[in-house]
Amino acid sequence: MPRRKTVVIVLGIAAALLIIVAAVVVVLLLTKSSKSDVAPQNETWKNYRLSNTTLPVHYNLTVHPEIPNGVFSGHVTIELNVSEKTSVIYLHIKWLNITSTRIFDQSGNNVSLKAFAFEPNEYWVVTTDAPLVPGTHFLAIEFSGSLTTGIVGFYRSSYIDKPTKTKRFLATTKFEPTFARRAFPCFDEPNKKASYQVTVIHDSAQPTALSNSPVLSTKILPSGLIETVFARTVRMSTYLVCFIISDFDHLEQMASNNVLVRTYAPADRINNTRFALNRAADVLVAYDEYFGIPYNHSFPKLDLVAIPDFVSGAMENWGVVTFRETNIILDPTTASAQNEFQIAKIVAHELAHMWFGDYVTMDWWSDLWLNEGFANFMAYLYGMEASVPHYNPESSFLTDQLQSTMVLDARLSTHPIIVPIAHPDDINAAFDSITYGKGSSVLRMLENYLGANNFKEGIRTYFRKYQYGNARTDDLWAVLSEQTGVHVKEVMDTWTKQGGYPVVFYDAASSSVRQKQFLSNSNDNVPAEQLWNVPIAYKIGSTPNMFLFKSKTQNVSINSTANLVKLNSDGKGFYRVNYKDDHWALIITALKSTNNTLTVMDRAQLIDDSFQLALANQLNYSIPLSMIDYLSSELSNSVPWSSAISNLAYVASMLQTYNTTATDKLRAKTSYLGSAVLEKLVWNATSGDFQRRLLRPLVMRLACRTADDSINPCRKSAYYMFSEWLKDSTNAIPSDYFEAVVRIGMAQTSLTDDQWSTVWSRYIVAGPVEKLALGRALADCYNQTFLQRLVAYIL
Ligand SMILES: *[C@@H]1O[C@H](CO)[C@@H](O)[C@H](O)[C@H]1NC(C)=O
Ligand SMILES: *[C@@H]1O[C@H](CO)[C@@H](O)[C@H](O)[C@H]1NC(C)=O
Ligand SMILES: *[C@@H]1O[C@H](CO)[C@@H](O)[C@H](O)[C@H]1NC(C)=O
Ligand SMILES: *[C@@H]1O[C@H](CO)[C@@H](O)[C@H](O)[C@H]1NC(C)=O
Ligand SMILES: *[C@@H]1O[C@H](CO)[C@@H](O)[C@H](O)[C@H]1NC(C)=O
Ligand SMILES: *[C@@H]1O[C@H](CO)[C@@H](O)[C@H](O)[C@H]1NC(C)=O
Ligand SMILES: *[C@@H]1O[C@H](CO)[C@@H](O)[C@H](O)[C@H]1NC(C)=O
Ligand SMILES: *[C@@H]1O[C@H](CO)[C@@H](O)[C@H](O)[C@H]1NC(C)=O
Ligand SMILES: *[C@@H]1O[C@H](CO)[C@@H](O)[C@H](O)[C@H]1NC(C)=O
Ligand SMILES: *[C@@H]1O[C@H](CO)[C@@H](O)[C@H](O)[C@H]1NC(C)=O
Ligand SMILES: *[C@@H]1O[C@H](CO)[C@@H](O)[C@H](O)[C@H]1NC(C)=O
Ligand SMILES: *[C@@H]1O[C@H](CO)[C@@H](O)[C@H](O)[C@H]1NC(C)=O
Repeated sequence: MPRRKTVVIVLGIAAALLIIVAAVVVVLLLTKSSKSDVAPQNETWKNYRLSNTTLPVHYNLTVHPEIPNGVFSGHVTIELNVSEKTSVIYLHIKWLNITSTRIFDQSGNNVSLKAFAFEPNEYWVVTTDAPLVPGTHFLAIEFSGSLTTGIVGFYRSSYIDKPTKTKRFLATTKFEPTFARRAFPCFDEPNKKASYQVTVIHDSAQPTALSNSPVLSTKILPSGLIETVFARTVRMSTYLVCFIISDFDHLEQMASNNVLVRTYAPADRINNTRFALNRAADVLVAYDEYFGIPYNHSFPKLDLVAIPDFVSGAMENWGVVTFRETNIILDPTTASAQNEFQIAKIVAHELAHMWFGDYVTMDWWSDLWLNEGFANFMAYLYGMEASVPHYNPESSFLTDQLQSTMVLDARLSTHPIIVPIAHPDDINAAFDSITYGKGSSVLRMLENYLGANNFKEGIRTYFRKYQYGNARTDDLWAVLSEQTGVHVKEVMDTWTKQGGYPVVFYDAASSSVRQKQFLSNSNDNVPAEQLWNVPIAYKIGSTPNMFLFKSKTQNVSINSTANLVKLNSDGKGFYRVNYKDDHWALIITALKSTNNTLTVMDRAQLIDDSFQLALANQLNYSIPLSMIDYLSSELSNSVPWSSAISNLAYVASMLQTYNTTATDKLRAKTSYLGSAVLEKLVWNATSGDFQRRLLRPLVMRLACRTADDSINPCRKSAYYMFSEWLKDSTNAIPSDYFEAVVRIGMAQTSLTDDQWSTVWSRYIVAGPVEKLALGRALADCYNQTFLQRLVAYIL
């Protein structure tokens, strides 16, 4: 808008005068008011962290969901410990309507007060006319809310009961990290621990009520509703509270440590939770032993509940763990080795949280990795090892956790494991693969450095010291240092407080090592040089050795005239190792000789390191491509194959764009390798040990994708099986490679409309696990018409 000069100047002067006058008035008013007010009220609730002077001690919580109406109401009485005279109390709420707020003392005398919401911090603020004296006070709040605002907080879920084809409802909770405040007013930070007595009022259509503790009593109210009261819990964080109201059935097993373990699910699928039930009972007993603290010190029961709509894989509510259906329901007649692995892993992860997370909790979300890193570490190395040792779970740790995270952590965009979380809005972002994958990997490295027994003793001390409380990363390091005499913090800060990781170069001729940050893009420059304290494990013959490498370069006295030196035994460390080309040649020769001492984890790590070093321009691609020739005799474990396949997929996708000659060569090589192995494995068999069952579908997809039909029956046979299954779903494809066959079938160029539609209609009615496989297959086809239709159907 054009300005009119004269008017502007006049108006400007007038405005300036007005401002001066106003300012004088305001200053006068302010001075006056601050003199006349008795005590200015500091607006402490503007701090988005809760105060430490008002702590919850116990909650009596009653909730009443009205499932058909999609609403709930409730009331809570919180016993507070006020440690300093105060006239302000604030706690969290979100999307709750508060109908009454009351504060009273131990003799029941009410305090006169005002209460209001401060939405920016999700607070309910109560100010009292007269200050509260230090000591015990009670805060009672009545509230109501909605069950239909999403699938976190307290929400309504539903499922279709297959036999009757009717829709059934349940109400359930998911509170981590900041959603308890959507269900009831609470001090919703992990270190504000308190005990809970939960009461649920529910309709007989959902007769089964579950919460963290066992049922204390039930009665029928005059209204005909059921009132279920649960026993008082131990001290715990708000985000672990849970209540579920459903019509679910259950299976149960008394674990050998006398904990009653139950699985809950809709009646039509309850029998398919038996696998998870058995795993849970095994794992619980193993963890009791490892941690030296019996689970039943806290709760006499453990429930595992299948929730139809669930935002995460599973949630470790203490005593009542909730799962997405695919992670707990397994039909033994259609389950693949992959499905079994997934369920065994998730159960072992969640149960580890009963200690790491529930019994001892991180003080604040910036140390979330203590919960999640430990749960992953325990799941693979101890939980699954106790429950399903024949899976060889630690080897799968390499591909599932370590290697995939190392790819992310080799970018400039990475971040340290411990990130300062100032504002609560940043909490959800902390649940990423650096927290889970790198967190668990550096713990595995530390355990290897300190020794498994020392490490375990340290962990036991940590649990005794911080039981029912909170701890920070440094508290754990301090306990482990005391146990071992090692300055653990100095070593581990280099892994937890800086992003990225090093590549260690070993020069056998000069007997030296050097380190620098590993970045997968050779054009990236490190913003600042970082060094790590790298525990370097290696073997001479079969004797393990270890040294800590802290500086930029170091001479090492590895005495190996006769032995081939391979650093980072079993891929225990979170770093890569590079060698001179002649040393790599020796390694490749060793891999090809069948009597080498390289373990399966060594082999997987050599493959991944060499490909990633080549990607970063630190090694010629001829080395990894020559190394993988040895895979033609890798028949017993899927992990080296899996390492190779993900790297090959990346190389293939890059070449596809740039160089068709090279693409053809790579295709010929992978086809040869895949087919050679597939033939030896008997491609359509289901027998053999567990890792072999995992290996078959992996190699099958590789071979079928790249195969030359004239020399390889893979694709032809897969198409045949696929078409038989399309004709009649009882022509079952053996479960281990059901997904592989359907995906190969859907990827054929001649796929017809009828075939696509049959797969779609089976997807619609499939059980949760089969649904995942069919969903992937639907996305695997190449015809754009079908892909567009799929997207339209999804929307
Ligand atoms: C308000 O804050 C000021 C400065 O932080 C402090 O000196 C004063 O004691 C506080 N008053 C109350 C009532 O807490
Ligand atoms: C409360 O205490 C914790 C230490 O336990 C501290 O980190 C936090 O900053 C304190 N909160 C406030 C608001 O002072
Ligand atoms: C909770 O309820 C129990 C018994 O029902 C009672 O003894 C206790 O005082 C109550 N505590 C609070 C904080 O209301
Ligand atoms: C209240 O807190 C103080 C310290 O803040 C503590 O000494 C006392 O034991 C607590 N009382 C209760 C009942 O938890
Ligand atoms: C406190 O207030 C509640 C609710 O308004 C009332 O039922 C109760 O009688 C009051 N207690 C006393 C001691 O006045
Ligand atoms: C909460 O209050 C709002 C505004 O009064 C109302 O529209 C809403 O229905 C209430 N929700 C519940 C669950 O009571
Ligand atoms: C589950 O197993 C029980 C006992 O083996 C059997 O009675 C029941 O019919 C089965 N339920 C379903 C839905 O198959
Ligand atoms: C190196 O190994 C040789 C033969 O195994 C042995 O004789 C020699 O003492 C070793 N040297 C060191 C420094 O350990
Ligand atoms: C292992 O293989 C190497 C070379 O292939 C051979 O020299 C050596 O004797 C073999 N060792 C054993 C124990 O078979
Ligand atoms: C494509 O790859 C072949 C070897 O596979 C190589 O000889 C040729 O130079 C490559 N072409 C380009 C443009 O990089
Ligand atoms: C496996 O496939 C081969 C070749 O396609 C076929 O001859 C054989 O009967 C199949 N075996 C089984 C167990 O299906
Ligand atoms: C994709 O599928 C549609 C429907 O069957 C068919 O008409 C079309 O020719 C196919 N396109 C290609 C590229 O095969």
